[in-house]
Amino acid sequence: NKQIQVGILGFGTVGSGVIRILKDHNAKIRQVTGEEISVKKVLVRDIEKNRGKISEGIQLTTNEDEVLADPEIDVILEVMGSIDSAKMYITKALKAGKHVVTANKDLIALHGNELVALAKENQCDLYYEASVAGGIPILRTIVDSLASDNIQQVMGIVNGTTNFMLTKMTNEHQSYEEALKEAQELGFAESDPTNDVDGIDAARKMVILTRLAFGMNVELDQIETKGIRNLKSIDIETAKKLGYRIKLIGTAEENNGGVSVSVGPILVPEAHPLASVQNENNAVFVVGAAVGETMFYGPGAGELPTATSVVSDLITVAKNIRLGTTGNVFNSYQHETKLMTDEE
Ligand code: NDP
Ligand code: HSE
Repeated sequence: NKQIQVGILGFGTVGSGVIRILKDHNAKIRQVTGEEISVKKVLVRDIEKNRGKISEGIQLTTNEDEVLADPEIDVILEVMGSIDSAKMYITKALKAGKHVVTANKDLIALHGNELVALAKENQCDLYYEASVAGGIPILRTIVDSLASDNIQQVMGIVNGTTNFMLTKMTNEHQSYEEALKEAQELGFAESDPTNDVDGIDAARKMVILTRLAFGMNVELDQIETKGIRNLKSIDIETAKKLGYRIKLIGTAEENNGGVSVSVGPILVPEAHPLASVQNENNAVFVVGAAVGETMFYGPGAGELPTATSVVSDLITVAKNIRLGTTGNVFNSYQHETKLMTDEE
């Protein structure tokens, strides 16, 4: 058996989860891939940081070239975040013929097409399941399981922080400030929670979902985006009395022969499946012309759920290496269609 050697960029929440899953589920992973997967090196910022028992036996480095230029490393897992450095490292990896898995929604929303082209050019795989809705396997579902259908609508609760806040404001009458503080303490929020509460994180995820579900490229600044910053307890109470829940929803849907994309707080009728999505959970409601209504629900963030998606991508890469069929990415579908805006 060939050994697949992996280099990981980042040993934070997601990186630790990846190492934990590779260790704990080793036997199953070996069986389904037919390969032994081993972590050769992990890039971090601070080599002195105490990372506990999970880091035992793992070789750390602060020099990216020790990972990216190591000829024995076949696959790079980028779980460090940021846009510029991550892009630079992934570019270097792909040019060196290494396959890449990333959880980085900010990077994929902004530079996904360019990286996909580079991956194909270099006959490398590039997967990013964890970038949208963390542990929910929604990208592969849209690209593979619903490949036969024409998707008409995607509605997603794709930001856990704001869903947590809205749940606390609705069920426990917390104020906006109390709910945000708790979400930050529990670690769901981004380091700058502006991206969560202003809908930007959700809009980035909608860029990726729109690309895959409709084959259409939409830029972040073309998405009409509203957050939950101005919501008051009275709005939530009134909605509740009228039989609705306020949810921050990203929508991409067919509209007059084009596709419209938006993010904002909307009134969801209590009976709609998205209304019952509580706390930091995510859900993506997908309507297909043939399949009808479907919904995919689960944890949108967190160490093990997010790492599950990253390692599943890695397993796909390992299988492709074994079969000699690399050069695969999620974006295989392109469709000329018009972005519909409010004025149209
Ligand atoms: P963390 O902040 O917990 O971890 C980041 C890790 O990357 C740390 O180990 C850090 O090193 C290392 N790092 C960061 N920048 C650099 C750099 N320039 N050079 C070397 N090492 C660096 O992040 P998360 O694990 O939470 O997130 C990682 C990625 O996964 C992000 O793109 C995020 O958006 C995405 N993601 C995260 C989810 C989650 O639930 N956390 C859910 C879905 C996606 P050190 O430890 O030394 O500081
Ligand atoms: N801050 C993000 C959220 C993390 O709350 O959903 C997962 O992408």
